[in-house]
Amino acid sequence: MIGTSLGLALLDRGAVVAGIDRRANPWTDRIPTTLMDLCAAGALNAFDWPADIVVHLAAHAKVHATVRNPQLAYENFIAGAAVLELARLRRVPLILGSSREVYGNVSRTRVGEKAVFVDKSASPYSATKLAIEALGHSYRRCYALPIVILRFSNVYGRYDNDLDRLERVVPLFIKQIAAASPVVIFGAEKRLDFTFIDDCVAGIVRTIEATLGGGLTEHVINIASGKGYSLMDLATLIGEAVGKPPTVVLESTRAGEVVHYVARLDIARRALGYRSKVMLPEGIRRALAWQSGHRGAPPALVLEAGYCEPASMPAAALASGATTIST
Ligand SMILES: NC(=O)c1ccc[n+]([C@@H]2O[C@H](COP(=O)([O-])OP(=O)(O)OC[C@H]3O[C@@H](n4cnc5c(N)ncnc54)[C@H](O)[C@@H]3O)[C@@H](O)[C@H]2O)c1
Repeated sequence: MIGTSLGLALLDRGAVVAGIDRRANPWTDRIPTTLMDLCAAGALNAFDWPADIVVHLAAHAKVHATVRNPQLAYENFIAGAAVLELARLRRVPLILGSSREVYGNVSRTRVGEKAVFVDKSASPYSATKLAIEALGHSYRRCYALPIVILRFSNVYGRYDNDLDRLERVVPLFIKQIAAASPVVIFGAEKRLDFTFIDDCVAGIVRTIEATLGGGLTEHVINIASGKGYSLMDLATLIGEAVGKPPTVVLESTRAGEVVHYVARLDIARRALGYRSKVMLPEGIRRALAWQSGHRGAPPALVLEAGYCEPASMPAAALASGATTIST
C-alpha cells in the first residue's frame, strides 16, 4: 500500500523506481517489480544496482496475524536483516519502515521517539520491528551507513482495500458501513493516530531528500497526523461520509494490540519540515472517494517461497519491500 503510493509519487517526480516484492503489484504496472522473497537465503546477492537509496517497506503488516502466527514476525526480521546486509555490502543509504507498535502502550499523552522500552513490546510484530530497528542502529554505527527509521501509524487512503489479503480498519469499516453491516470494535477505549497516505508519502519523500542531501542528523522519526481518534469516532465519521449510521458491536481489545497512540511530531517538523495536512474527517472523505472507484484489487500473483531469478532489472534503481528508489 505505502510502497505503491510512494513509488508512483517518485515516478511522478522523475525518479527511477524499482520494486521488490513477493507479489506482483495488483494496482499498477508503472512500477517495475522483481518478484522475490527477501527471506530466501542470499536473495539480494544477485543484485548490483546503482541505486541512490533503498526504502524498506516489506513486511507482514498485520499485527494481530503475528500474534496468531509469530513466524510471520520472524520473517519480517529476516527480510529486514537481508536489506540491511544489502545496504552494508552496496553502501546504499537506507530508510527502514517501522511502526508505532514499537512503543507498546507507554503513554496516554503524545508519544515521542525516545519512549521505547523493550519490556513494553505488545506483540511479536512490535518485538521484531524493534529488533530490526536495533540492528539498523548497529549497522549505522559499525559501518557508518546513513540509516533512518520512520515509524508510521495507521496509514490509510489508497491501495488498501484488498481486504481478502489484509484487513485494515479504515477500508473495512467503509465497506461494512456502506453495506449497512455491523462493524466490530475491539476496544472502545482505543485511541489511535490515523495517517492519510499522502502525508505518509510526503514524510518519506522528505526523508529521502534529507538523507541524500546529507543534512539529516535524526535517525528515528515519527510520521503520523499528531491527532488521536477513537474507533468510535472513526465509525461515526465514516457513517457521516457514507450517509448511513454505523451499527457497532463492541468487543474486548485483542492480545497484542496497542490501545493508545498519538504521535509527537516535533522531530519530523524540525528535521524534515514535515506537517500532516489531512486530518481524519477529510481523509475519510478522500478514502471513500477512492474506494468508491476501486472495489478491490485483482488477486496478485504470489511467490510463495524460494528465490525467483529476475528477468530484467532497471538499470539505475533498487527498491525493497513493496517499493524503492533511485533518483
Ligand atoms: N500501513 C500502515 O498502517 C502501517 C503502519 C505502521 C507501519 N507500517 C509498516 O510500513 C511498511 C509498509 O506497510 P504497508 O501497509 O504498505 O504493507 P503492505 O502489506 O501493503 O505492503 C508490504 C509488502 O511487503 C511484501 N512482503 C512481505 N514480506 C516480504 C518478503 N519476505 N519478501 C518480499 N516482499 C515481502 C508484501 O507482499 C507486501 O506487498 C511495513 O513495514 C509495515 O509494517 C505500516
